[in-house]
Amino acid sequence: MYNAGKILIGLIIFFGLATFPFFYNMGKAIAKPEPKVDTPEIMKLAKQDRKCVESKEFMRAEHMQLLNEWRDSVVRSNTRVYVNAEGKKFDMSLQNTCMRCHSNKKKFCDECHNYMAVKPYCWDCHIAPKEKES
Ligand code: HEC
Ligand code: HEC
Ligand code: HEC
Repeated sequence: MYNAGKILIGLIIFFGLATFPFFYNMGKAIAKPEPKVDTPEIMKLAKQDRKCVESKEFMRAEHMQLLNEWRDSVVRSNTRVYVNAEGKKFDMSLQNTCMRCHSNKKKFCDECHNYMAVKPYCWDCHIAPKEKES
């Protein structure tokens, strides 16, 4: 006769060993970035005004193109005012507009870019916000 108890214990141990690496790495190795939007500049805004230049979905998908447009507009036609979909005006500046709100570059831009393995070269010239931790 089979020893049901021993087989069951064997199965449990086997299952534990086989899946150990999986559980052990859970939430560790590939921590998905959660961009933090609670910088002092953003928290100063009234709750209903805590928005980006455009909608979150748009920004997530199109911020690179938006920045390119801004640069071309400033450098080529010296136009510095951007009017968003809601008619709100923004100064087209990486440093003075984006990074004033997103002053947590490391926890915001960098964390997401590192995860996606993109490395914008902008900071060779543009000044990144001063941050406490290095
Ligand atoms: C007035 C402050 C403000 C400015 C200026 C601003 N942002 Fe934002 N940004 C926010 C807030 C607040 C959110 C979160 C929006 C939400 O949750 O609806 C956000 C969201 C984003 C996101 C999406 C993050 C995610 O979770 O997917 C990106 C990317 C982004 N911003 C990039 C930029 C860039 C690039 C610029 C300059 C072109 C910029 N932001 C200018 C306040 C700002
Ligand atoms: C939610 C994730 C996320 C956040 C937050 C984010 N980015 Fe990005 N960014 C990306 C991804 C993904 C790409 C690459 C897109 C592609 O290649 O089409 C990218 C590309 C870029 C590029 C173009 C780089 C290149 O070499 O083509 C620039 C410039 C850029 N991001 C600036 C910023 C700035 C500035 C911030 C912070 C204010 C920021 N991003 C925050 C996800 C993010
Ligand atoms: C070789 C140096 C250099 C690099 C690299 C560079 N820029 Fe610029 N950028 C400039 C200069 C110079 C201006 C003109 C400044 C002005 O007229 O106010 C400018 C202007 C801009 C402007 C409009 C004005 C402002 O104050 O922000 C934006 C937006 C911009 N760049 C975005 C980017 C982005 C995004 C990247 C990375 C993908 C980038 N730049 C990389 C030199 C550079």
